[in-house]
Amino acid sequence: MKQIISVDVTTRRVDLVKCKTEMLVVGRFSDAGDPGAVIMTLDKALDGGISRLAKIGDFTGKPKSYTVVYGEGRIAAERVLILGLGERKKATLDTLRKAAATAASRAVEMKVKHVSLALHPSFDNLDAEAVGQAIAEGVYFGSYRYDEFLTENSNSRPRSLQAEVLDSDASQIKSLAPGIAAGAIIGRAQSAARTLANRPGNVIDPPALAKAAQEMVRGLRTVKCTIFDEKKLRQNKMGGILAVGAGSRSEPRLIVLKYSPAKRPAGNLPTVALVGKGITFDSGGISIKPAADMDQMKLDKSGAIAVMSAVRAIAEMGLPIHVLGVIPSAENMPSGTSYRPGDIVTTYSGKTVEILNTDAEGRMILCDAISYAVKQKCDVVVDIATLTGACMVALGTYKAGLMGNDEELISQLQKAADDSGESVWPLPSGDEYADEMKSKIADLKNTGPRWGGACTAAAFLRQFAGSAKWAHLDIAGMDLFTKPSEYASLGSTGFGVRLLTTYVMNLVEKKQ
Ligand code: BES
Ligand code: MN
Ligand code: ZN
Repeated sequence: MKQIISVDVTTRRVDLVKCKTEMLVVGRFSDAGDPGAVIMTLDKALDGGISRLAKIGDFTGKPKSYTVVYGEGRIAAERVLILGLGERKKATLDTLRKAAATAASRAVEMKVKHVSLALHPSFDNLDAEAVGQAIAEGVYFGSYRYDEFLTENSNSRPRSLQAEVLDSDASQIKSLAPGIAAGAIIGRAQSAARTLANRPGNVIDPPALAKAAQEMVRGLRTVKCTIFDEKKLRQNKMGGILAVGAGSRSEPRLIVLKYSPAKRPAGNLPTVALVGKGITFDSGGISIKPAADMDQMKLDKSGAIAVMSAVRAIAEMGLPIHVLGVIPSAENMPSGTSYRPGDIVTTYSGKTVEILNTDAEGRMILCDAISYAVKQKCDVVVDIATLTGACMVALGTYKAGLMGNDEELISQLQKAADDSGESVWPLPSGDEYADEMKSKIADLKNTGPRWGGACTAAAFLRQFAGSAKWAHLDIAGMDLFTKPSEYASLGSTGFGVRLLTTYVMNLVEKKQ
C-alpha cells in the first residue's frame, strides 16, 4: 500500500531574493498600505510584479486567497506563492498555521517537492517558538492526503515534501528552531492519527486498533503498552466495555499506554489520564442507526486515536510528566449476541446502568475507562469522544464541546485549544443533567430525555470520575472533513492530537 507523504521541515539561513527553490511562500495581509518588508523586497526584485497584481485588483490578501508569481530569473526562486492572511488585527497563530497548511497543500497539488517558507516575518509580534511550531504543524496538516487504497497511478502525488523556513538572520532561525522541532513531532503524530482514523471498520477492529497502538509507541522506551483482551476484561468485570463489544465478531479491548518520563517531573505536576473513545464502527447496535451517512461511523474511534497519538508526541518530546492513555475499544454491532435495550449492565465501578438505547454506547465504554484511570490514581482525567449528535447540533463542526468538574482544568483546556487552533466551547454538565440520568431500576440509565443530549451524556460520565479533576471533550462533528478545503484534504481531521499535546506541554511549561 501507498505510504503517506513523508514530510521534513528544516531551516536555512539565506537571503529571500537569493533563495534557490521550487517555491517561495510569503504572506500578505488584506489591510491597505504597508504590504510588509518581505513583499516589498520581492516586489522590488520582480520589478513591481507583485504591486501590479494588487493595483489591478487581482490579489487583495483576503483570507483563503492565494496567487502565484513566477521568478523568471529575476530572483533565485522559480515561483512565489503569495497567501492572503486577512486583516492584520484578526491574525492569530492559527492564521499562520493555516497559511503554512495552504502552502503545503498547494505544493502537493502542483507536485512541488521543495518549498521555502518566509511566512514568519508577518507574525513578528508572536512568540518565535510558538510561530515555529505552528508553521511545522501546518506543513504536515496541509500536505496530508489519504490515498492508501487508491490503486490508480494516474493521479500520482509526490512521495515526499521538503519544507524549509528561511531567514537571512541566524539568531531568528535559532529562535524558531525548537518550535519547529516540536511542531514536526506533533504534525507527524497528527498525520499518523488521520491515517489510522481513515482506515475503515473492515481494516481496523478493536484488536487491530490495539496492535496499531503498540506499533505507534514501539521504540519509545518510556511508554509501556498493556492490552486487556476479552478474558482480562471479564476478570476485571469491565461490564460496560464487554456489553458494547458483545454483538461483534471482533473482541473488545482496553488499551493502556503508560508514559513514565526519563526526567523526574516537578513535584506539583499532576498525573494526567487521557481517555479516548475507540468504537471502531458504530452501527448503533440493536437500536440501529439510519443508513444515511452510517459509513462516517468508522470515525467513531477518533478520540482513541487522538489519545494514542498525543501520548506518542508527549513521549517523543520527553516531557517531564506522568501520562496514562486509556483507550476502551469495541465494535457496536447488532447480532444475536448483542446487548439489548432493557438490559442492566454492571460497570467496572460497580454502578449499574439500565440500557435504553444501544446507540448510546460511547458512555458505556468510557465509564469503565474513566473508573480505571481513577483507580490508577490519576489526578486529572480528560476524556475525548465522538459522543453525541446533540453536540454537533449545538456547536456545528467548528468547535468541540468542553465540560468538566474543575474550573482550572477547564480553563487550561480552553487555553490549549486557543494555542493549538483546535477550538472548544464550554457546555454544562451539572446536577440537573445528572438527575435526568437516574433510572428507577438501576443506578443510572444510558440515555436521558430528548433535550440537552451532549450535557446529559457528560453528566453520566462525570459520575465515574469520583474525586479526580475531570474534563470531557465531545468531538462529534470535529472528526471529519466531508469536503476538501484550501488547507485540508477530506477525511479524518486528526482533531485532538494538537489540543491534548498542547495541554500537556503547557502544564509542563507552566503556561498557566
Ligand atoms: N457516535 C455517535 C455520535 C455521533 C453522531 C458522532 C454523529 C459523530 C457524528 C454516538 O455513539 C451516538 O450514537 N450517540 C447517540 C446518543 C443517543 C442514542 C442518546 C446520538 O447522538 O444520537
Ligand atoms: Mn452510537
Ligand atoms: Zn458512537
